[in-house]
Amino acid sequence: MKKLFFFLMMWQPVFAAEIPLHQQQIENATPNQTAIDLSAKKLREHKDVEIHEKLVIPPFHKQTGELETAPQSFCRTCHTPLPHEKALRTRTFNNMHVRFMACETCHVENEKLTYRWFDFENQKQLSGENLFRIGKNIDNENPRPTNPKIAPFLNDSRIFLLKSDEFAKQIAATWKTANESEKAILHAKIHAPLNWQKGEKNHQGMPCEECHNDKKSKLDLPKLGANSEQVQAVQTHIIPRFLQHYKNDDQRITIREMLR
Ligand code: HEC
Ligand code: HEC
Ligand code: HEC
Repeated sequence: MKKLFFFLMMWQPVFAAEIPLHQQQIENATPNQTAIDLSAKKLREHKDVEIHEKLVIPPFHKQTGELETAPQSFCRTCHTPLPHEKALRTRTFNNMHVRFMACETCHVENEKLTYRWFDFENQKQLSGENLFRIGKNIDNENPRPTNPKIAPFLNDSRIFLLKSDEFAKQIAATWKTANESEKAILHAKIHAPLNWQKGEKNHQGMPCEECHNDKKSKLDLPKLGANSEQVQAVQTHIIPRFLQHYKNDDQRITIREMLR
């Protein structure tokens, strides 16, 4: 407890303007006892979550290429490369998006954010030219690269942390040696700004229809570099449209309902 407090107090920001919003929020978070208890409960239920320095998934039959999905992501300090497993209907799709989208794109809700392609390796924004793949003949033997990704910005600054940021490294080191109660506090602080969690259980992350709709997508697709066919393909894709019809986990959908 003392060590964690020390670590959080001693972190001295050097360039105030450069500090990602998530870092500021973690530093300023004051989770109440209920939030800390909830974090402790989640950690007890997921004892197996550890720092994953190396990939732990065994290779799949015939699967080729790189299984890592987000090497530079701060979230990958603790989460696995395919972090979605609980929601059976959507997990594969969310995991597929992780290759070209930052976790924070779907896990931070804030009306003021804008979304850009970000080169995680060279830490700079990209125009997005030729980066969309929808509608093209895609060869799955040749998976898309894990970089760049569509990521959230506020006033032109990235709001997300990178694994290589000093603050992220300190969290990783603290987490490794923390005891259960220290971990519960740190967990609560890290996850408090991930707002989508606040909603109902099914909306721990941004649902498909926030982007896949033909009215107001969260993403400004033309500005991100999509051509008009690609914009239309994202907006009208049949799979997210289909999933949108489900309200409950045990619901069954008929063709008639689909056509409404
Ligand atoms: C220091 C370790 C650590 C870091 C860094 C971390 N998480 Fe987690 N996260 C956990 C643990 C442990 C759990 C609880 C076990 C679980 O549900 O998988 C968790 C749970 C979650 C959940 C489930 C919600 C809930 O309340 O149970 C979401 C969503 C999540 N994390 C998203 C993220 C995102 C996005 C990032 C990066 C911005 C991130 N996490 C960074 C350790 C971490
Ligand atoms: C395309 C949007 C999207 C992206 C990108 C995304 N998530 Fe999620 N995530 C969701 C949604 C939505 C849920 C809630 C489950 C559902 O409704 O499908 C979720 C749930 C989770 C959970 C809860 C556990 C579970 O099994 O569902 C964790 C942990 C998580 N995300 C971590 C991450 C991490 C780490 C990343 C980045 C490596 C990430 N997510 C990227 C949309 C996304
Ligand atoms: C944050 C915005 C966002 C969210 C949320 C999101 N998507 Fe997407 N999705 C996109 C974008 C952008 C593309 C196009 C990527 C490209 O062209 O490279 C895409 C591509 C796809 C594709 C690939 C189409 C193809 O033919 O290659 C499918 C399928 C898809 N999304 C389904 C879903 C489902 C199902 C969900 C919810 C579980 C979801 N998406 C959530 C933005 C989003």
